[in-house]
Amino acid sequence: MPATKIPNLRLSNGCSTPVIAFATASMGDRDDTKTEVKEPIKFDTASLYGTEKSLGKAIEEAVKHGLVGSRNELFITSELWTPDNHPHVVIPAVHKSLDIPVIGFGTASMGDRDATKTAVIEAIKLGYRLFDTASLYGTENSLGEAIEEALKQGLVGSREELFITSKLWITDNHPHLVVPALKKSLELLKLKYIDLYLIHWPISSKPGSAIVPTKETLVAFDMKGVWAAMEEALKLGLTKSIGVSNFSIKKLQNLLSFAKIPPSVNQVEMNPVFRQKKLREYCKEKGIVITAYSPLGAPGARRGSNRVVDNEILNDIAKSHGKTVAQVSLRWLYEQGVSFVVKSYNKERMKQNLEIFDWSLTESDLEKISHEIKQHRVSRGPPSLEDIWEGEE
Ligand SMILES: NC(=O)c1ccc[n+]([C@@H]2O[C@H](COP(=O)([O-])OP(=O)(O)OC[C@H]3O[C@@H](n4cnc5c(N)ncnc54)[C@H](OP(=O)(O)O)[C@@H]3O)[C@@H](O)[C@H]2O)c1
Repeated sequence: MPATKIPNLRLSNGCSTPVIAFATASMGDRDDTKTEVKEPIKFDTASLYGTEKSLGKAIEEAVKHGLVGSRNELFITSELWTPDNHPHVVIPAVHKSLDIPVIGFGTASMGDRDATKTAVIEAIKLGYRLFDTASLYGTENSLGEAIEEALKQGLVGSREELFITSKLWITDNHPHLVVPALKKSLELLKLKYIDLYLIHWPISSKPGSAIVPTKETLVAFDMKGVWAAMEEALKLGLTKSIGVSNFSIKKLQNLLSFAKIPPSVNQVEMNPVFRQKKLREYCKEKGIVITAYSPLGAPGARRGSNRVVDNEILNDIAKSHGKTVAQVSLRWLYEQGVSFVVKSYNKERMKQNLEIFDWSLTESDLEKISHEIKQHRVSRGPPSLEDIWEGEE
């Protein structure tokens, strides 16, 4: 049978491509691929299909037997199979100018180094891009190793694709220690800069004293001096943005009264069992992004509670959507316009925590969460000279 004349389309580079192509995605059925390739003129393959070799042989034979006058009569397409062929989520940004991803990956695992490295690499494969650490957690080193490995394996194209947050611990909460502390964090992370540096708590403890402060080690917090040093760290290019954590409205008001560069973020406990309504309203008015920590109430952690995961209202809502309570909590945070950092080193739960973007809570769910769940703060924080929260419950 004479071959059908297939019309061509002209490409913008001047080449002509036949309108009909012969697809070879047969996952390695090599002999069949070769036999079928007799008449069509355009062939589509890919390194993934395993048919490039048989297509090549078929072309060779077709030219040899005069089925085509020359190789030039054929139009061959192939597709690059990228190393990051794992599921990815596109995590929306909550603050465009800072481009801070809505979901962050928490690493407060108190020095579980190997587990942190493995979990971070897995998280990058799944699509997490924001990683939250702190000098306190002892995970900066493992996070740095994981980033290095991810770059080596091509899981991310470049360092710029990641958003790294770290925090200044209270023993370094002194003006002259801020830049050295950040430099130490950078050294552990093996990075030239981080994306966000936070004052971890509005408390100071004597330099070099134990991690957990006592009455004897606590000293007054020089907020003005420490913030000036944070601004200096930003100017030095050691961090792309600066912010605070565990700051009440009163403390933010004080900070904003002298800050030359206002804080970009206030990272605080927030979840359906501790909604932070007033603080959120204040931060919104001032253009400060809230990042919620303990978004699931830190179940299983010594400092945490099961109040979120065991909450009956949240469980009923979860059942009605065929979701888990964790997903309901994270979806609720997303719908409130905040970002959050959630910690799981379990692959299934890491995946589950990302699956919150293709469904939504109903008006009635939101009503119940806003009005029927008793509020309870889990994180009281380290001991301090005064009430950290200043009565703002
Ligand atoms: N700025 C601050 O003062 C501050 C304070 C606390 C935390 N943080 C940051 O915020 C991050 C997250 O907060 P967090 O660690 O306190 O609490 P969290 O994320 O609310 O809870 C973490 C716990 O929940 C479990 N979990 C995770 N996903 C789950 C799911 N889908 N279903 C059931 N259980 C699940 C985890 O266990 P598995 O690992 O076994 O899954 C882990 O034990 C921290 O890692 C840290 O980076 C900051």
